[in-house]
Parts: sequence; C-alpha cells; structure tokens
Amino acid sequence: MSRLVVVGVQWGDEGKGKMTDFLGQKADVVVRYQGGNNAGHTITFGGNKYALQSIPSGIFNPHIKNVMANGMVINPKAALAELEGLKSRGVTDFQLFVSDRAAVIMPYHMMLDGAYETAKGGKKIGTTQKGIGPAYCDKYSRIGIRIGDLIDKDYFAERLHDALAVKNMELKMLGMETLEFEPLYKEYLAYGEQLKPYICDTAILLNEEAEKDSKILFEGAQGVMLCIENGTYPFVTSSSPTAAGVPIGTGLAPRYIDKALGICKAYTTRVGAGPFPTELDGELAHYIRERGHEYGTVTGRPRRVGYLDMVALRHACRISGINYLSVMLFDVLSGLEAIKICTAYELDGKQIDYVPSTLSKLERCKPVYIEMPGWKEEVTSVRNFEELPQNAKNYLHKIEELTKTEIVVVSVGPDRTQTIRRKEIF
Ligand code: GDP
Ligand code: IMO
Ligand code: MG
Repeated sequence: MSRLVVVGVQWGDEGKGKMTDFLGQKADVVVRYQGGNNAGHTITFGGNKYALQSIPSGIFNPHIKNVMANGMVINPKAALAELEGLKSRGVTDFQLFVSDRAAVIMPYHMMLDGAYETAKGGKKIGTTQKGIGPAYCDKYSRIGIRIGDLIDKDYFAERLHDALAVKNMELKMLGMETLEFEPLYKEYLAYGEQLKPYICDTAILLNEEAEKDSKILFEGAQGVMLCIENGTYPFVTSSSPTAAGVPIGTGLAPRYIDKALGICKAYTTRVGAGPFPTELDGELAHYIRERGHEYGTVTGRPRRVGYLDMVALRHACRISGINYLSVMLFDVLSGLEAIKICTAYELDGKQIDYVPSTLSKLERCKPVYIEMPGWKEEVTSVRNFEELPQNAKNYLHKIEELTKTEIVVVSVGPDRTQTIRRKEIF
C-alpha cells in the first residue's frame, strides 16, 4: 500500500505525531492537509523530544518531502519560528513544501478567536486561541489571504485592503483596536519573502508523486470527534480531520487514497469544553492523567480523561473508513484492578449505539459499561504482542471485536522504539 491516512479517532492528542514518525521512516512524502498550529504532535527519538505544530512530522528525515497542503491554515510567523526552533536543535537538512493556496492566519484572526470566546461567557469552546476558526471563516467568506498572495506584492496589497475593510469593522464592533494597513502589509510581505523558497503548487507535486507510486503518509491533526462535520458540534475545530478531508485539503484525487489508520488511545482524553460521556474524575482520573502526562502540548491545559468510548470510536471509524487501528498509550493502563469500556449510551431510558447529532441529546447520554479485569505488569519494554499480559491482550481483542477493526500497532511508550508492530501496513 502506498498512500495511508493517519487519522485521530477520538478528540485529538491520540499520538498521531508518534505514529506518523514511526511509519514515516518508510515514507517518501508526509503531508499535513488541515488544521494549523492548534495541533501539537509530539515525537520522541534518540533521547530528544519535539512538539510540532504546523510542520509535518517527517521533517527529521532528509529524504522525506514534507508538505503543508492547501487545506491548512498557516500562521507564517509561528511556522517560521517553528522552523528556527528546529534548526537551532540541529534539524537543518530537510525538504519542505508550502502550498501557495493554503490560508494565512492573520493577527486579527487571533484577536477575534479570543473575542468570540470571551463573548461566549460560560459557553466557551476552549479553543487554542490560535485564530483557527476565524481564519477558516474568512477562507469561506472569500476574504482570506493565501500563502501565495504574500509573494505577490500588488495583489497582496489589494487583498489586505479588502480584508481589513471588513475585519476592522468587526473589530470596532467588538470594541477592539483596529489594525493599520502599512505595518501589517510590511510584516507579512517579509514573512512571504522568508517562506518563498518553500512555496509552490503542492497539488501538482502530490499528483506527480502519486503517479510515481511514491509512499505518501497523510498526517491528520485533531480527531474525528473534533471534526467540523461529524464531531460534537459546536465543540469542535473548524476543519475535517477525516480521511475525506485529504482530497479536498491536498488537491490529490480521492482514487489515490488507499487506506486509513485510526489512532486511538487505550482510554479517552479531551482538552477544551464539550460533551464527554465517559469522563472520569477523582482518583482514577488522576492516576491516568499523571501516568499519561495528560497535559496539552500546545496550551499546557490538563486534559480531561475517561474510559474508552466505543460508541464514539465506532462513529469515528465509520465516518473515516478506518481500515486499521493503532492503540496508543497502552502502558498507562497498567496497575488497574479493572477497566471499563463504554459499549452503548442510554438516552432517555433507551439504549442507543450512535452519537446523537445535538448537544442537548448527547449531554443526556449515560455510558453503558462492560468491565474487564486489569493487569499489574508494566509493559513499556514489551515489543512482541504475545508477551503482553493475558488480560492486556484480552482488552485489545475486545477493542477489535467491538470496532470490527484489526489493531496493527500497540504503543507502549512515547519513544519511537516503544512500539509493538503486529502487521506491516505501509
Ligand atoms: P498527537 O497530537 O495525536 O500527535 O498527540 P500528542 O503528541 O499531542 O499527545 C500524545 C502524548 O502521548 C505525547 O506526549 C506523546 O509523547 C505521548 N505518547 C505517545 N504514545 C505514547 C505511548 O504509547 N505511551 C506513553 N506513555 N506516551 C505516549
Ligand atoms: P492535535 O493535532 C486536541 C480542540 C481545542 C478546542 C477545539 C477547538 O494535537 O490532536 P481550535 O483552536 O481548533 O478552534 O479549538 O478543538 N483542539 C484540539 N484538541 N488536540 C488537538 O490537535 C486540537 N486542536 C484543537 O482544545 O476544544
Ligand atoms: Mg496533540
């Protein structure tokens, strides 16, 4: 198989960075196709730990073409700083291609992200405040700036004038300071100049690579439950992390997409607000949060933790056409007497096996659990599936049974080497 999509099938932070890096050892191309620096993808190898936000996770391998495709929203200042950070840590030999069609996150997007959140009062989404939603809004309102505009002086001036006319009106209405054209124009032209060596038509590049049968890994950000179309709306992000987001977000025809690998934690986490039927609190939540270091990569917020939710997981696998699963942070669960898995929801006295579309219904859903015996042994040094404790294997088999999906990788630690590969899929 040559083209594989890595999709988060929960609420983000499932370990997509680790899996992209792990599988990426064999890739020719690694592509980010949606989202922006709201993502935080952690990669650990050779005693070093990196947290990437906009830059694709293949950046450490000089042979890999790393593509930031048209479906992304890119903050040029932050992306350049990220590159500088990598260079200062010795990552100097890399290939990077940035789509001329990708949307630019402007300072007013971050200002508005904050203002919209404040205006929501107690109903905050808990966004990463990176301007993601407002940048996608402008793209769809057709007043967005695109990366290619930044290297076309006259056209950029025209686009920025048009955008500021609307955005300043909005900022004024919200009682915020308006922005002047000139300093913004100069600042963003300078970013364009710095990004110029990387800017190109990445759709052409990707179609050529696909025709050559290159091995392409698509690195989803966020997770299906945060998908604008299929997630727990309105507590979602503003793009679609599903495999269906790939053709739209890259300009690569759907026929080139072979398979999708779902990345899920052995339990569930969520950062930010929104429904979370299997959420835990108290001692067990604390145990899992501390063992899994469940604090946000981007914002440092403690992540909410809960049992595995099969209703949500099945929904995510169905929506994204998941062929295989990778179960991540499996080591975190050692030491528990018993572990529950949510197999259905109870809604107004009836059992259901789907995720209701409205928040009001989802908030009334109570998890229906089965309980599995836990295991005491630490598993961080296990490299062979058969060597896992029997109860650990039973738990994984149960996930396969309930999702009807084969688990091809079990991750037992953050490091690249702490990985049990059951089957070669890429
Ligand atoms: P992503 O956004 O999906 O790439 O995930 P994040 O990097 O935001 O969060 C996953 C966290 O779990 C990171 O801190 C990883 O280093 C860590 N991690 C990944 N796989 C494992 C694992 O199998 N075990 C443990 N203990 N940590 C892991
Ligand atoms: P990775 O790729 C976890 C969440 C935010 C918030 C909601 C909307 O690292 O898995 P946004 O800033 O996108 O408008 O915020 O989505 N969120 C994430 N949660 N992992 C992420 O990315 C996330 N990106 C956004 O916390 O609830
Ligand atoms: Mg993350």
